Amino acid sequence: MKMITTASIALVVALATTGRDAAAQPLGDERALPFHLAQRDLERGKFTAEQLVDVGRYLFAAKFTLLDGAGRPGSTGAALPTRRPTINAKPFLRTSGPDANACASCHNEPSVGGAGSFTANVFVGAQEREPTLESVSGAFSAERKSPSLFGSGLIELLAREMTADLHGIRAEAVANAKQSGKRVSRPLVTKGVRFGAIGAEPNGTVLTEQIEGVDKDLVVRPWSQKGVVTSLRTFTVTAMNHHHGMQAVERYGMRQTGHRDFDRDGVEDELSEGDITAVTLFQAALPAPVVVEPLSAQRRKAAQRGRQVFADAGCTTCHIAALPLRSSTFVEPGPYNLEGTLRQKEVDQTINLDLAALPWGKALRRDANGQIWVEAFTDLRRHRIADPETRTLANEVVSQGFSSTDEFVTKRLWEVGSSLGSYGHRGDITTINDVILVHGGEARDARLKYQALRAEDRAAIIEFLRTLQAPAIEATAPPNVLPTALAAVLLPSDGAAAIDRAVASVGEVQASEQIVGRAVAAANRAEMTAARIRSLSKRIDHELAKLGGTAAPVPTTKIVAALPPAIADSLIEQLAIPDLANEPRREKLIDALRRAERAISEAHAQAEPALQRAAVASLDPPALTPTGYVPAQVVIRNATQLRHDHQFGRLYEEVTVWCEDLAFRTEQLGQQVAVAALRTEAFATRSQLAAAAKH
Ligand code: HEC
Ligand code: HEC
Repeated sequence: MKMITTASIALVVALATTGRDAAAQPLGDERALPFHLAQRDLERGKFTAEQLVDVGRYLFAAKFTLLDGAGRPGSTGAALPTRRPTINAKPFLRTSGPDANACASCHNEPSVGGAGSFTANVFVGAQEREPTLESVSGAFSAERKSPSLFGSGLIELLAREMTADLHGIRAEAVANAKQSGKRVSRPLVTKGVRFGAIGAEPNGTVLTEQIEGVDKDLVVRPWSQKGVVTSLRTFTVTAMNHHHGMQAVERYGMRQTGHRDFDRDGVEDELSEGDITAVTLFQAALPAPVVVEPLSAQRRKAAQRGRQVFADAGCTTCHIAALPLRSSTFVEPGPYNLEGTLRQKEVDQTINLDLAALPWGKALRRDANGQIWVEAFTDLRRHRIADPETRTLANEVVSQGFSSTDEFVTKRLWEVGSSLGSYGHRGDITTINDVILVHGGEARDARLKYQALRAEDRAAIIEFLRTLQAPAIEATAPPNVLPTALAAVLLPSDGAAAIDRAVASVGEVQASEQIVGRAVAAANRAEMTAARIRSLSKRIDHELAKLGGTAAPVPTTKIVAALPPAIADSLIEQLAIPDLANEPRREKLIDALRRAERAISEAHAQAEPALQRAAVASLDPPALTPTGYVPAQVVIRNATQLRHDHQFGRLYEEVTVWCEDLAFRTEQLGQQVAVAALRTEAFATRSQLAAAAKH
């Protein structure tokens, strides 16, 4: 896997954007998504980082239609591809989903990518059921507020580095236990955050009982308020299906489910890997929240003091003011994605976006070591936030992942000042003061300290928290209308469509090449059999000489027909697709075909005299052995399999027909060879008997 940098993306963009006609979308076409991005194009640097982020913003705000594949009548909203027993064609259902037009329908305060108000709550878990009237009941789902995604690239980078650190500690513990022959225990601390401890036995067994606040696999999962989702990409793929019934190929497509239209809505391959990369990068590139100093000097002073009181009350044990980040490069796809989300080993190149190089990134605080301090007021760790006395935040029944119902990830407070009216994971607490007062569990002591503070100190904390706000950004594109500049890049003109077709044909040619490869292999096998016959016929000659006899006149047995030239010619003609005139692989394929043809006729030519000689020994034909059939059957099976896998269309059909014909002939040859071989063996035996009788 190589790396591609944003700088190299920039170099080639001029090439990609020339000569495109924005009007290529058919008249009357009402798709929100009249294009798909090929991940390969992204890797090859077809777009600048800025363009990718812009396309991602468009995708995030796009209101998908049935024509795009919105809706999932044949499958549920579960993250794990799950078919419904019955088709349910209801386009929207506010509870179990599809529940919204666009990502931005919920994530939009104060601008696209932000949080959502109570109306945008999601009934997490309901999407996995058949649409049910009960889906808003706590017994079936957990109602959650839509969190803001500002600064999420930095958050995911912190989580990735923390995971790497924790995995390093685990590896060190195991190595140490093996080396010392003693059980070891190590504190799991990264960036100053402690996740309990890990142990290891001398035999390499890892002891996970003391791990706290993170899953046992030590992957820090920053997403969902439960901390159960690894990456923005994973979340995006899940959310696209859950909220919109837009199924990404990387999870719901052919490779994972065996279907191109898993949700049975008549639209295949609804979101490409490239589409998901763009919408992920848009989220990662969203600016971090900011501190907005109050205008009034009195408030400014209170806020400054509040920052200190907040720390003194013990709030920063969880809401750590800032965490250090070693690298600001957002590598996509990320390192910890699981099956069903594009993984690094599945791409040739990652797309690397340096967040610090973005306009807002310049304002990030760096220290002398070059580390960036991400001032998000969280530890990215799960904590028990309720106890029997303080139960408000333990209002859920259904547990999610490996997290218990009273645990949540420490909320990032860097935007808390923009959330007035909607706090807590359900968004049902209207003031900062009230949400602090319901902190229980591990936060109980801090809450008691807060309650014991003088009124002006509590007010100072509130004033401080209210200075932490969403970044002020203007929407650069009205949702649902593809900006003209983007359209020019994304929508192919007729010329570009021809190029795309040509590129697709290359894929077909490559598939044909595979088949030719098999044909050559079949020819090689025929050659080997011929060699065996040659050696047998030598033995026959030898035996005949020993008997003192000579061969009887050879009956001309036209046993083997060469590959029918007409079929080979028509195939070659088929490959002379105009768009491929300059495709070097076309020549290669034709060459391979010719070689295969030559190899086969050579094999036949060599086999023929041997077969003729074998026929001299004309004994009664013994029963046929099935061995001759096997290679032919394999060829047919492979061809059928390939057709099933790739559905390459007419050209492919031709190749398959040709291949089947070849296989048939190989089979015939095999039969003949088997007969001849048996005859030869029999002849040898008879000669031996005759020789023995002479003596
Ligand atoms: C109907 C409202 C709604 C829509 C539409 C929606 N989301 Fe969300 N989003 C939520 C809610 C609610 C959560 C919190 C889920 C939880 O805590 O379990 C969330 C969480 C997230 C998170 C994790 C944030 C965090 O801090 O944990 C990401 C990333 C995200 N959404 C991306 C998307 C994307 C991308 C789309 C479009 C494909 C989308 N969302 C569509 C409501 C929505
Ligand atoms: C033991 C860890 C812990 C401590 C200590 C703690 N918090 Fe929290 N805090 C959390 C968690 C976890 C949440 C998320 C609760 C939820 O999702 O419902 C949270 C949520 C909040 C929120 C709600 C933010 C939002 O946008 O909904 C505020 C405000 C807050 N904390 C302030 C404080 C203050 C002030 C203190 C100190 C008095 C404090 N917290 C101490 C863990 C802690």
